[in-house]
Amino acid sequence: MLIDSFKRPIEYLRLSLTDRCDLRCVYCMSERMRFEPHDQILSLEEIERVCAAFIRLGVRKIRLTGGEPLVRRNALHLIGILGEWVRDGRLGELTLTTNGTRLAEFAGHLAAAGIRRINVSLDTLDPERFAALTRGGRLERVLEGLAAARAAGLRVRVNAVALRGVTDRDGPALVEWCHGQGFDLCFIEVMPLGEGRAVQDAASLPLAELRGLLERRWTLADSPYRSGGPARYVQVAETGGRIGFIAPEGHGFCHECNRVRMSCTGLLYPCLGREVAHDLRPVLRSGAGDSDLDRHLSDGIALKPAHHAFAAGCSAASPARAMSVTGG
Ligand code: 5AD
Ligand code: SF4
Repeated sequence: MLIDSFKRPIEYLRLSLTDRCDLRCVYCMSERMRFEPHDQILSLEEIERVCAAFIRLGVRKIRLTGGEPLVRRNALHLIGILGEWVRDGRLGELTLTTNGTRLAEFAGHLAAAGIRRINVSLDTLDPERFAALTRGGRLERVLEGLAAARAAGLRVRVNAVALRGVTDRDGPALVEWCHGQGFDLCFIEVMPLGEGRAVQDAASLPLAELRGLLERRWTLADSPYRSGGPARYVQVAETGGRIGFIAPEGHGFCHECNRVRMSCTGLLYPCLGREVAHDLRPVLRSGAGDSDLDRHLSDGIALKPAHHAFAAGCSAASPARAMSVTGG
């Protein structure tokens, strides 16, 4: 078992397959984003080896993230291998977070590989505001992708970043539409990572305010439902659907954090909201054996801090890196 210094068992790995993306969401990437050179990025074989090590040490759930994971060439090959490990019981669950632009092509393959649930990022159903927020994305493609996911039998949670001028206008329509499709919807407060810092200052919509706004239209009741992460849910009486809220303010969920992240270059990040990382790539590329690799995973996890640095008044600095390094 991987246990961190605060006695939290680590069972969940969020694995970024690429820092690249076909969109440029304003709270995530700069317009002229600089990406990692290809030789710095782990090969699929190296990633597979790290996954096997994490699983050996007790990880039960892997989520593939990006950037956009489905722009990584041969992503399906790795998904096939990890899906096999779910089938033979080595791994408990394999999931994916995607922007949905390639789901029309991939949804059937994902379901066939054994993925049951996916998270799809979508902030608005207004095509113009979607294009502005993603700097050129086409809403229609994401909607086609979501339709394909639904047809393939994937359970979908839509994630929307809560933004003033967007979510206060379009949030209710998003709730109505998602629940009509049978999708959960989760609102996420802007986090001060990379580009998110400026957006947080200029356009963050506090979730308490958003909740009040939704309550003008629907009856929301706090729900004990948990999806295994920091989201807190309400049940909407009129639609029968669920809405989640993820707000990093305070350290309310850090004590039960069970996850670590790895970037596509092999940096193990024990906390999303901290700068600290442990570099696994030199280990992978030095011919080290499995016991060495396992020791490095434990060393990385020992760096996991008690809590993130997002809370107001926190003395530690929040990270300069973009969300696309770890995929949330
Ligand atoms: N704050 C909060 N959420 C963010 N995302 C990207 N950048 C930020 C940010 N600064 C979200 C995306 C996606 C997930 C991977 O992270 O919208 O849903
Ligand atoms: Fe791409 Fe997701 Fe970042 Fe948007 S938030 S630019 S879809 S990685």
